[in-house]
This record gives sequence, C-alpha cells and structure tokens, in this order.
Amino acid sequence: MTIMACKCLWVFSLASVVSAGAFSNPPSDAVDSVNPLIGNGGDTPNGSGGMIPSTAPPFAMTRWVAQTRQNYVSVPPYNYTDTAIHGFQGTHQPAIWMGESGQAVVVPGAGTVRDKFEERGMRFDHANEVLTPSYYDVEMDAIDGGSIFAEQSATSRVGHLRFTYKNTSTPYVLVQASRASTIGSADPSNVTYPHGTVTVDPSRREICGSNPERQDFIIQPVSTPATNWSGYFCARFDQPFASWGVAQNGTLTKDAIKGDGALLSAWATFEATTVDVRVGVSFISVEQARKNLDTEIPDGTSLEATAHKTRTAWAEKLDRIQIKGASDADKQTFYTAFFHTLQYPYEQDEDGEYYSGYDDAVHVGPSYTGYSNWDTYRAEWAWLILFAPERVPGMITSMLNDYKEGGWLPMWKNIVETNIMVATHADSLVAQAALAGITGFDIETAYEAVRKDGTVPPQNDNSTVYADREEGVDYEVRAGLSSVYEYSGFVANDVHSESGSRTLDYSYDDWAIAKLAAHLNKSADAVFFENRSLTTAFSLFNAETGFMEARNKDGTWAGQDEGWTEGDMWAYTFDVVHDVPGLAERRGGNASFVKFLDEHFDGGHNDHTNEPSHHIPYLYSMVGAASKSQERVRAIAKSDYNNTVNGLSGNEDCGQMSAWYLFSALGFYPVDPVSLEYVVGTPFFDKITIDFPGVKRPLVITSPGGPRKPYVKSLSLNGNAVSVPVITHADFASGGKLDFVMSATPEAWASSTLVEMSQKRRSAERVEL
Ligand SMILES: *[C@@H]1O[C@H](CO)[C@@H](O)[C@H](O)[C@H]1NC(C)=O
Ligand SMILES: *[C@@H]1O[C@H](CO)[C@@H](O)[C@H](O)[C@H]1NC(C)=O
Ligand SMILES: *[C@@H]1O[C@H](CO)[C@@H](O)[C@H](O)[C@H]1NC(C)=O
Ligand SMILES: *[C@@H]1O[C@H](CO)[C@@H](O)[C@H](O)[C@H]1NC(C)=O
Ligand SMILES: *[C@@H]1O[C@H](CO)[C@@H](O)[C@H](O)[C@H]1NC(C)=O
Ligand SMILES: *[C@@H]1O[C@H](CO)[C@@H](O)[C@H](O)[C@H]1NC(C)=O
Ligand SMILES: *[C@@H]1O[C@H](CO)[C@@H](O)[C@H](O)[C@H]1NC(C)=O
Ligand SMILES: *[C@@H]1O[C@H](CO)[C@@H](O)[C@H](O)[C@H]1NC(C)=O
Ligand SMILES: *[C@@H]1O[C@H](CO)[C@@H](O)[C@H](O)[C@H]1NC(C)=O
Ligand SMILES: *[C@@H]1O[C@H](CO)[C@@H](O)[C@H](O)[C@H]1NC(C)=O
Ligand SMILES: *[C@@H]1O[C@H](CO)[C@@H](O)[C@H](O)[C@H]1NC(C)=O
Repeated sequence: MTIMACKCLWVFSLASVVSAGAFSNPPSDAVDSVNPLIGNGGDTPNGSGGMIPSTAPPFAMTRWVAQTRQNYVSVPPYNYTDTAIHGFQGTHQPAIWMGESGQAVVVPGAGTVRDKFEERGMRFDHANEVLTPSYYDVEMDAIDGGSIFAEQSATSRVGHLRFTYKNTSTPYVLVQASRASTIGSADPSNVTYPHGTVTVDPSRREICGSNPERQDFIIQPVSTPATNWSGYFCARFDQPFASWGVAQNGTLTKDAIKGDGALLSAWATFEATTVDVRVGVSFISVEQARKNLDTEIPDGTSLEATAHKTRTAWAEKLDRIQIKGASDADKQTFYTAFFHTLQYPYEQDEDGEYYSGYDDAVHVGPSYTGYSNWDTYRAEWAWLILFAPERVPGMITSMLNDYKEGGWLPMWKNIVETNIMVATHADSLVAQAALAGITGFDIETAYEAVRKDGTVPPQNDNSTVYADREEGVDYEVRAGLSSVYEYSGFVANDVHSESGSRTLDYSYDDWAIAKLAAHLNKSADAVFFENRSLTTAFSLFNAETGFMEARNKDGTWAGQDEGWTEGDMWAYTFDVVHDVPGLAERRGGNASFVKFLDEHFDGGHNDHTNEPSHHIPYLYSMVGAASKSQERVRAIAKSDYNNTVNGLSGNEDCGQMSAWYLFSALGFYPVDPVSLEYVVGTPFFDKITIDFPGVKRPLVITSPGGPRKPYVKSLSLNGNAVSVPVITHADFASGGKLDFVMSATPEAWASSTLVEMSQKRRSAERVEL
C-alpha cells in the first residue's frame, strides 16, 4: 500500500458521495473529512489499528461492515487487502483482540443459493466503494454473472441495507444465524459450533432468529457465565418473497420455515431487482429485535432517510471542533480520530431495558459494554467527559449495574467481564467524572464499589496466578491485593502474573480512590489510600539500577524483564503519573530525569504503539523541559499517525490511540487523569474552535504558525500569562481563550531545567577551553 493509492481512492470515494447528494446532507466538512479506512491496518502484520470501515451512529450497539473474512480474536471482519465480500455483518466485536458476540450477517446473492462462507465471496474493487461514517456502498461481481450494488446505513440497533441486482440471475438474500467459531485466539483448528435458530415468515416478509456465538466465553469469570446469552435478529424486507428456505452447511431445504443448529442460515428469493432490508438486533429476544426495528427505522423509511439521520448524529459531534491551518491529510487524520473515539463503550440497553450477562436476567436501566478500561482511563475517558458528557452518567450507572449484578466494577467488559489486562481503572473513571462535576449517577454506590476494589482481594488471591486470559478463574480485579496491603507493599512476582505492572497500576487506582474520598469528605479513607498509593508507587524502585523492578514475596528483586504487561522496565519506570516530582527526585533530580527521558527516547525504548508509553513525552514538561515535550509530541504525531490504511501504529484500543492524537493536537494532555490537570504540549494547527456540549462559550485555541512552528514561546489563558505548563479542566471546559505564541526554534518557556543544563554545559566548555 502506498499513500498515493490510498489517497486517490479516498478522493474518488469522496467525490462519489458528494455526487450521491442525498448522503452528503446535512453538509459537514468535519464528517466529510472522516476516512473510515484509516487505521484498518490491512497490510501490516496482524493489523496495527484494527479498525473497520463501519457504518453506525456514535456508541451504536451494532456496527455494520462489509465482511471480507471471518472475524475472530485478532482478526477484524474487514481487511483492506482482501478482494471479495462475503456478506454484510452487524458486528459487536469491540476491539481487534476481543471476541465477536451474537453477530447478524446478511448476504446478497443471485442464482444458486450459497450459504457457505468460502463459496459466497463476491469480488470487488476499492475503486467501487464509497465509505462514510453513515453510508457505505460497493459494487460487487455476482458469482453467476452480473453485479450487485450494495448500500448500507444503520441506526444503533438496526442495520439498513439495499441491494440492486444488475443483469443477474434470480436475486436472493441469505441471513446467517450461526457459523463455526474459533476458541481462544484464532486457532482455526479449534472450533465450536454454536447452535443458532431461524424462522422464515413470508407473510411478514421476515427472517428472524438467534445466534449464541460469544467467543470470549472462555475467559469470563466462572461465577457469572451469561448462560442464556444470545444475539437476536429480525430482518424485514420491503419486497415479497418469491421462494424461501433454510440452509445448513451447504444443504438447502426449500420451503422450510424453521431451523436450528450449527452452520445455519435462511434465505428468500425475489422477483424485484431492488431489495431493501432492515435488520433489528437485540440481546433480549427476537420480539425485542423486531420492536427495535419498528422504533428506529419504521416501515416506509428510505435508506436515504436512515443515512441522513446517522450523518446528522455524527455532524452533531464532529462539527463541535473547527480547525484552521490543517492540511486535508491532517484533517482526515484528526476527524477520523474523533470518529474512532466516539464508538466505545457501546449501548446494550434497548427501550430502557437490558440483558445482563452477570445475572442472566433482564433489568431496567442504562447499559453499555465494550469497556477497555486499562487503555481508556488514560485519555479516552477524558475525551468522553468533554465531548459526550451526556453519556457519562449512563456509562457510570451501567458500571454500577455490573457491580450490583456481578459484584465488581468492570475491568474489560465484553458482554460480561473478561479476564484480560490488569488493574481496576474503573476507580479512575468514576473519580475523574465526579471531580469534573458530572452528576446523575449514584455517587455513594460508586464510592462503595471503588472502595471494594481497593480493599477486597479476589477469590483465592494467594493461590491463583491470574495470568492474562487465564481460563476457569473468577473475577481478577486487584489480584495480589492481599500481599500489597497485608505484608509486602507490592504484588509478589512469584505469586501473581504481571506483578510489576499491577503494583504500579494499583498505586494509581488508590490515588483515584483517595481523590474521590476527599471529594466526598471521607477523610480517613482519603489519607489511607493516598498514603498507600504513594508508598506502593516506589516499592519497586531499585535505587541501584534506577529502574522499577518486580519483587518476590521475600522482597528480593525478580529480574528486570519480569512482571510487565505490554511494556518493559523502561515504560513502567515512568508509570508514576501522580508523583512525577517524587520520581524525578529518585532519578537524581530534574536535570538527571531529563537525561533519563532522552535516553529512553533516543535509545528507541518509547513504544507508542502501546498505552504504557502514551504519557511519557509529556513528562519533560513537568520537570522544566517543555520544549523537549513539544519536540517529542510532534515527532510521535508524525511517525505514528496519518491518513492511510496503516495510519495507526498501534491498536485503536477503543479510542485511546486516537484520544492521544486529539488532545495532543489541541495542545494539552491528561497525564494524571484524576488530577483534572492537563499538561501543555504543542498545538498542531493555527486555530481550533471548540463548542463543548452544554457550554455556551466556545474554547478558542490560537497558535498562529502552529503547523510549521512546534515550539511554544508563551501562553495565555483568557489574557493571563501562563508560566507553568499546566491548565486545569476548570480553566477551559467552560470555554475561553488559550493563546499560544509559537516558534520555529526551542524556547525558554517552561524550560528552566533545560536553560540551567545548557548554562552548566557552556560554563563546563569554557573551563575546558
Ligand atoms: C500475529 O499473530 C500470530 C497469531 O496470534 C502470532 O503468532 C504472530 O506472532 C503475530 N505476528 C506479529 C508480527 O505480531
Ligand atoms: C490483513 O490480511 C493480511 C494478508 O492476509 C495480513 O497480513 C494482515 O495481518 C491482515 N490484517 C489484519 C488487520 O488482520
Ligand atoms: C447481461 O449478461 C449477459 C450474459 O451474462 C450478457 O450477454 C449481456 O451483455 C449483459 N447485459 C448487460 C446490459 O450487461
Ligand atoms: C481449544 O481451546 C480451548 C480453550 O482455549 C482449550 O482448552 C483446548 O485445549 C483447545 N483444544 C485444542 C484441541 O487445542
Ligand atoms: C436459561 O434458559 C433456560 C431455557 O430457556 C431456562 O430454563 C433457564 O431458567 C434460564 N436461566 C436463567 C438463569 O434465566
Ligand atoms: C459440513 O459439511 C462438510 C462437507 O460438506 C463436512 O465435511 C463437515 O463435517 C460438515 N460440518 C458439520 C459441522 O457438520
Ligand atoms: C494471603 O496471604 C497472606 C500472608 O500469608 C495472608 O495474610 C492473607 O490473609 C492471605 N489472603 C487470602 C485472601 O488468602
Ligand atoms: C464536604 O465538606 C465541605 C466543607 O465542609 C462542604 O462544602 C461539602 O459540601 C462537603 N461535601 C460533601 C459531598 O459532603
Ligand atoms: C504513610 O503512613 C506511614 C505511617 O503513618 C508513614 O510513616 C509514611 O510516611 C506515610 N507515607 C506517605 C507516602 O505518606
Ligand atoms: C523540577 O521542575 C519543576 C517544574 O519546572 C519545578 O516545579 C521543580 O521545582 C523542580 N524541582 C527542583 C528540585 O528543582
Ligand atoms: C503512516 O503511519 C504508519 C503507522 O504509523 C506508518 O507505518 C507508515 O509508514 C505511515 N505512512 C506514511 C506514508 O507516512
């Protein structure tokens, strides 16, 4: 893939959308700048970004995508390098390395009915695709001759598709209920056969059914197995059925109206050559799927009207940021990042009710799933607080519902909890929202839940390793907590997996609990958690090496490569965002810490493709070396983000990769999220105007020359000079003015340590002379 190929295709696609007219309404330069192919990662090994070009509104329950391959853990359903489309999938797979759940699939075809995935692929060319957040179309070669033009849009719980058959044999549409599912990480030889159901109702022109596939069931907590979970669907067509039947693993039973079992689908044929189909989905029942269809896209609604509604929802969000001075390429990178940050967690309530996998029952209230908290507590959640504050009370209430029904706040919820990654960062999410002034959730229950995270060890804490993706165990939560607070002050590496990362992450979560406790005037708790936080943060600091190092139960060092998850001793030595002065002091003071940061970056140790490195470039600013932060941030933005298929260097991780870029482009980043302090970096463009939801006055960030001048010479906030490179949530979240003076060369602003270092160097040089 070259950048030119990608760019040309996109320009082509954009032109087609504009000429389609109906799909470019309401007008929105921001929405037109989204290129849903960015970050697909098609031809990078195992797909860096892993994003799919899906159509759906923000936070949609189901995202619809042309399916080019079977999706499993680490395999997204659309891969840019593929050349055939095997159907259109309503997916619930929230991230590349998570499993799919209860997807619905609609497959147009003509002539011989083909139900098997490997036999139904229709060749297409990217030149014949139009891709937007709200509307997608593609022209495909029908297998028996002629072509099928497929169009797709969606609301949160209903996919809307239209197929136009051009010079084909008899048109049909197949709806798939079940397929072979791989267990664990895409080992194609290790499969299960979930049993789906289908019913065909020619009088209602419906094919409905269920699909219980849930690939992550093997890593769910054993006490809440979501026993009766299923995805349900109800597809309703606008054309009468000419014939119909049920298909199973290549065997077609014409006129059948019911089926259940493995590898199951149903189909209908049509005399018409244009067929419109709406597919309601549900996690509650077929009836609810039908109800969702009637509520969100009632009979008689055109695909154009659906696409307009969904485009309007995106425009309402993306138009909130207006940029001056960005190239078209940078605008695509920026707005596509914005598009990526507003997808997860996703709605799983329907009509005010939701299926809970925790107690296998239907409840009243809001619910969301797809919580990648280890990733998103860093910057994605801060972005949601600013740009989707209307959702945050529901998202927290959903977490509290999980707590009530399963006993714990979510760590990585994918329908139910999954045993992936470490730490109880929901503590940080709740504290940050409360401190930012968000109300509308039960704060006392929230405190009870985070306090439980900080005080109650998981089951069999001294005998279960809680390895990543360990099967057959219960809730992992703060595995190793017994050792932290009962005897050692750290998670012991000879008892628990990922012990170094756990110790440092738990220390941050304690910090979050302390902040929330203080906010609620629970002063004894505030003192306890703050003390434990600041103590455990440095319990792994090996003063002899200057690095963090995991320790064994008896206190001995476990080895420099031991105990880290998705990072190494370099990244994790910087993982004390709540006490950067304490860390700098242990590393010999500010000047020495700056040298350590240089060694980290220049030695190639910074791995921006994974989250533990995300805050590190901003640490320079916190020790009097702001111009170095500015340099590093610009370099990472250039090397790790662009507007191509491979334009995300790491997994999108439910929006965290993109949230880093967006905050960085604005000129500030939440290094310590619950502090509500943002460390100032370097704004990328000439001017950015932001209309935060519910705020009357815009925030106007001016930084003339920003695209060419990466360094900050001075900053003022509402006319007052800012000398410390920190602004608070309160400083900007209700609008105002941030005025940067930019420079092409490093400036002394907020860089006293660098100034001192260079003075010392100069006087040392003079002595040598
Ligand atoms: C890609 O994934 C496979 C299977 O999970 C793994 O064995 C391989 O190491 C991965 N390759 C890269 C480059 O990450
Ligand atoms: C896309 O497919 C190519 C070729 O099979 C593969 O190398 C790459 O890892 C795939 N990308 C994703 C995101 O799975
Ligand atoms: C339709 O298909 C037939 C046979 O495949 C072909 O001969 C004919 O030219 C096609 N017509 C059009 C309008 O493409
Ligand atoms: C299939 O995967 C399951 C879950 O990871 C595992 O327990 C089982 O041993 C695997 N079977 C084979 C044959 O690899
Ligand atoms: C699960 O479904 C079965 C069969 O419909 C039913 O007997 C059982 O009570 C259900 N379990 C729960 C927890 O609802
Ligand atoms: C599906 O059919 C193929 C042959 O067409 C057969 O080999 C395979 O065992 C069948 N699979 C199942 C799960 O029945
Ligand atoms: C774990 O071991 C420590 C030290 O022996 C003990 O104090 C603690 O109660 C144990 N915790 C659990 C949950 O078994
Ligand atoms: C905490 O105490 C302060 C000062 O007494 C008071 O203003 C505030 O309302 C209290 N907050 C809560 C949540 O009780
Ligand atoms: C924590 O509390 C202990 C006991 O009161 C005290 O000795 C220690 O200095 C405190 N540590 C921090 C970091 O506040
Ligand atoms: C380190 O730098 C920070 C930020 O400039 C400053 O506030 C702090 O006083 C410095 N520490 C020392 C010991 O000089
Ligand atoms: C785009 O970004 C990706 C990932 O960061 C990188 O591998 C690729 O080289 C970049 N492409 C261009 C043309 O800059």
